[in-house]
Amino acid sequence: MLDVVDISKSYKESPNVLLGVNLFVSEGMFVSIVGRSGSGKSTLLRIIGALDRPSSGNVLINGCSLASLNPAEAAFLRNELIGFVFQSFHLLPRMTAWENVALPLFHRGVGRSARKARALAMLDRVGLADRVCHRPEQLSGGQRQRVAIARALVGEPRLVLADEPTGNLDSGTGAQVMNLLRALNKDLGVTILMVTHDRAMARLCDKIIEISDGRILSPDEMAG
Ligand SMILES: Nc1ncnc2c1ncn2[C@@H]1O[C@H](COP(=O)(O)OP(=O)(O)OP(=O)(O)O)[C@@H](O)[C@H]1O
Ligand SMILES: [Mg+2]
Repeated sequence: MLDVVDISKSYKESPNVLLGVNLFVSEGMFVSIVGRSGSGKSTLLRIIGALDRPSSGNVLINGCSLASLNPAEAAFLRNELIGFVFQSFHLLPRMTAWENVALPLFHRGVGRSARKARALAMLDRVGLADRVCHRPEQLSGGQRQRVAIARALVGEPRLVLADEPTGNLDSGTGAQVMNLLRALNKDLGVTILMVTHDRAMARLCDKIIEISDGRILSPDEMAG
């Protein structure tokens, strides 16, 4: 499903952020990415999600090469195939929970009543059926994160990219969000790539990848 081929990334101000990263993820896997701050985890996730371009190398998603896409095609692929969950939620403050969740469908041109029905169903799935008309400021951190997960999944993406989805939550709420991601991974068969600082969360995944100084460590180099 996902094939990262020899990706390197340098910024003018930060050379060699990623150095020859190779990664293969098969359909339906739940993979965690760990590594210390600044090791290149978010950069790798942004490149896989076609939000940033590598300096060299390529990413294939379902056989589709990101290098060959123009910006409009990349936006289409993001909207159709990929769901993003960020640590800081990125919810729109003036919109209710269901309107936030429905946004990816709005961008696809889905009509209002169909958008609302699908958003409500997904909010129910993440345990927020009684919070659909709340705005983000009226929700707790864990509830906001669940809204963000519902938004990432409402369009039935094949790949979810989550950058520290439990990073802003206490450990109990973080475990709930983790269990929810695991259940969605199992029930919907969606492939998930999750950056986390938390080794205990990482161990709940099918596979752990550790990045250090811009490259992926082999299993015997990992701290465990
Ligand atoms: N747009 C940019 N321009 C210049 N340098 C950047 C840019 N984005 C990231 N970097 C640099 O790339 C390195 C890796 O950043 P990245 O955000 O990928 O780290 P990370 O592993 O996600 O860290 P954290 O765990 O703190 O989130 C950092 O040293 C950062 O300064
Ligand atoms: Mg990061």
